[in-house]
Amino acid sequence: MVYPARRRQQPVRAVNGMSFAVCRGEIFGLLGPNGAGKTTILKILTTLLTPTSGRAEVLGHDVVAEPLAVRRAISIVLQETAVELFLSVRDNLVTYGRFHGLDHAEAQRRAGQTIEKFFLSEYAGQKAQDLSGGLRRRVQVAKMFIVPTPVMFLDEFSTGMDPILKRTVMGYLREEAASGRTIVLTTQVMSEAEELCDDILIMHRGRSIAQGDLNKLKLLARDVYDVTLTFETIPPGLGGELEALKPQRLQIDHGTVEMTLKAQEREVLETIAGLAARARLLHVEVSGASLEDIFVELTKET
Ligand SMILES: Nc1ncnc2c1ncn2[C@@H]1O[C@H](COP(=O)(O)OP(=O)(O)O)[C@@H](O)[C@H]1O
Ligand SMILES: [Mg+2]
Repeated sequence: MVYPARRRQQPVRAVNGMSFAVCRGEIFGLLGPNGAGKTTILKILTTLLTPTSGRAEVLGHDVVAEPLAVRRAISIVLQETAVELFLSVRDNLVTYGRFHGLDHAEAQRRAGQTIEKFFLSEYAGQKAQDLSGGLRRRVQVAKMFIVPTPVMFLDEFSTGMDPILKRTVMGYLREEAASGRTIVLTTQVMSEAEELCDDILIMHRGRSIAQGDLNKLKLLARDVYDVTLTFETIPPGLGGELEALKPQRLQIDHGTVEMTLKAQEREVLETIAGLAARARLLHVEVSGASLEDIFVELTKET
């Protein structure tokens, strides 16, 4: 996908040679930093943007040739998608249900349930324009739960949500997937992808750089370890010694050392044993790579 040149700027190739398939009933995550091309992909898949080349299908319907068939099958939360500002929260939800073919009574019933589910009761009668950004976003996400479209797309759904609500919504999304809906979401938050997604595609500058479930992605970063050590007192010269190991990350704060090492497990353990022989260690923790380490490794400029 190439965006045409804006004033005095080059055209932007926002998505470049990507190919992926999403299985029915799974939660598929597009993970990447700002500008990676995530929103562009969602806009193409949801028929909001016509790709300059390449093709995409949703449930077997080509997004360019059969946009209406695609739209009937999907629900969308995009970063800028609107709620109807002049309608109340309840009417936003009812209207959405009516638009997707529910009769009035059913739309009312589902709206009522969803308002409770999303803790929106006290705002139900307020116009969307009077709500904070975070609450508007909550209404957008709530719309996804009014009509059980087979596929849902969410662009950074958790932005502006407090951690408790976010956790609750993540639970809801998992329930929807378990009931057979397919969910495609984007995120910059690695822990979110790690907790929520069955399949993760890591993208950077318009390209796919890795894809798979968490176990497969973790294999990519085999021999990367996160090490946390707490010393009674830090032995003199430790910083220089640790730098010599060329850690990917090193932070020394009071008695605690946190580092990420790319090395064989044996070397990591020998290093720790060497340190333990010289200074009293109060706490040792070694864990395999996190999604964050993998991400840093994969997006490292070479
Ligand atoms: N309408 C547009 N016109 C020109 N460039 C755009 C437009 N929308 C996005 N881009 C550029 O395309 C790239 C990908 O953007 P986007 O898909 O929004 O990434 P993400 O959602 O991962 O942050 C960025 O370099 C962005 O500046
Ligand atoms: Mg985006």
